[in-house]
Amino acid sequence: MRIAVAGATGNIGSLTAQALERGGHEVVRISRSLGVDLVSGEGLDDALAGVDAVVDTTNSTAADPAETVAFFGASTRNLLAAEGRAGVRHHVLLSIMGMDRVEGNAHYAGKREQERLVSAGSVPWTIVPATQFHDFGAMVASWTERDGVATVPPLLVQSIAPGDVADVLAEVAVGEPRGRYPDLAGPEPQDLVDMARRTNRARGHEVKLVPSWDGVFGPEMAGNVLLPGEGARLAPTTFDKWLAEQG
Ligand SMILES: NC(=O)c1ccc[n+]([C@@H]2O[C@H](COP(=O)([O-])OP(=O)(O)OC[C@H]3O[C@@H](n4cnc5c(N)ncnc54)[C@H](OP(=O)(O)O)[C@@H]3O)[C@@H](O)[C@H]2O)c1
Repeated sequence: MRIAVAGATGNIGSLTAQALERGGHEVVRISRSLGVDLVSGEGLDDALAGVDAVVDTTNSTAADPAETVAFFGASTRNLLAAEGRAGVRHHVLLSIMGMDRVEGNAHYAGKREQERLVSAGSVPWTIVPATQFHDFGAMVASWTERDGVATVPPLLVQSIAPGDVADVLAEVAVGEPRGRYPDLAGPEPQDLVDMARRTNRARGHEVKLVPSWDGVFGPEMAGNVLLPGEGARLAPTTFDKWLAEQG
């Protein structure tokens, strides 16, 4: 099959493109640095010529809800319209598990808009709601790090290896549209502060971590809120195994 990966230079997109190629598929890589801008639509029609399925792994770094809604709204509208013109038969969206249980959060506002547009659209779809990735703890700490100190919310997450997310997206993309896919999670619950501390130590990065809810993740996300529900698909790679493989 010929499959386009939007966000193909990113963390999950690059691994998804590799997983599809390992499976013998032809991959069209989409990102601004590769000449295709989903927000303006530049280069999109050419990129989707002859494409059977699209996997959307794009991301926005905006910290404001209006900005994330604008980014994911425009990029998704442009992508779905171009898919309609090109006759694409399957749109696969990487989303975030548990967003329906949380009010607020700027990033989630944009992702909710993205899910709304995909599920109301005319291109047959699969939305894959994944838990936080194994590198999420260190990423969250990096947002606030200053003078060797960073804050991290004491979240309970059942994090998943980026490579496992990519493998599932590749598998889903070559199959039939499924609508909303089961929750996709890693094998075991983790404490985000512990994840951040151990990842930074493994990377030789000295930083003091202070558990705190004073950030983009508030106490409404505490407890079981971010843990997968019944019927979840659990990917095999533990946080410990992923950490041991970090160079
Ligand atoms: N981090 C987590 O724990 C987690 C958990 C569940 C789900 N997710 C979701 O996973 C998705 C992927 O995250 P990630 O960390 O892999 O993202 P990432 O590494 O930040 O990559 C984002 C990609 O989007 C591309 N992009 C950004 N703006 C674009 C535009 N206007 N047009 C075309 N391409 C554009 C970037 O390339 P250019 O800059 O070259 O354009 C890059 O390839 C996100 O939607 C996120 O919500 C994340």
